[in-house]
Amino acid sequence: MPNIIVIHGPNLHLLGKREPEVYGKLTLDDINARLEALARELGAQLRIEQRNGEGEIVTLIGETMDWADAVVINPAAYTHTSVAIRDAIAATGLPAIEVHLSNIHKREEFRHKSLIAGVAVGQIAGFGCESYLLGLRAACSIYTNSSRS
Ligand code: DQA
Repeated sequence: MPNIIVIHGPNLHLLGKREPEVYGKLTLDDINARLEALARELGAQLRIEQRNGEGEIVTLIGETMDWADAVVINPAAYTHTSVAIRDAIAATGLPAIEVHLSNIHKREEFRHKSLIAGVAVGQIAGFGCESYLLGLRAACSIYTNSSRS
């Protein structure tokens, strides 16, 4: 059974109220409940955390690296700025899946660049809550495929 850490970055605790035309009407609790339901179906163990601070996310990644088999992360605004989070993910050596509710490539220019993408297995963007669920499925199949080989 894979252990998967799901990390929500800054301002994602405001989902539901925050620019619903961009991010949808689901709250973070709604998304987390869907993740937990899918994890039960897929036989994965989840730890789900939300942090607003860049350093807090770096610390969290370091603390969970011995427990986790994979990371599903929506780095939110830090996607576009954070060398520290990129380095933390690289340091773990864990497969990471970058997820975004919105399609960052269709939005403002400054959102087109992800500093995280270069250390992630892949990026899933633009499917709302489904981006997280697809990210969790990807993390589980990476785990299954690597433990078979
Ligand atoms: C986001 C996209 C980021 O550009 C933005 O700063 C966020 C959320 C998304 O999920 O679509 O906070 O990561």
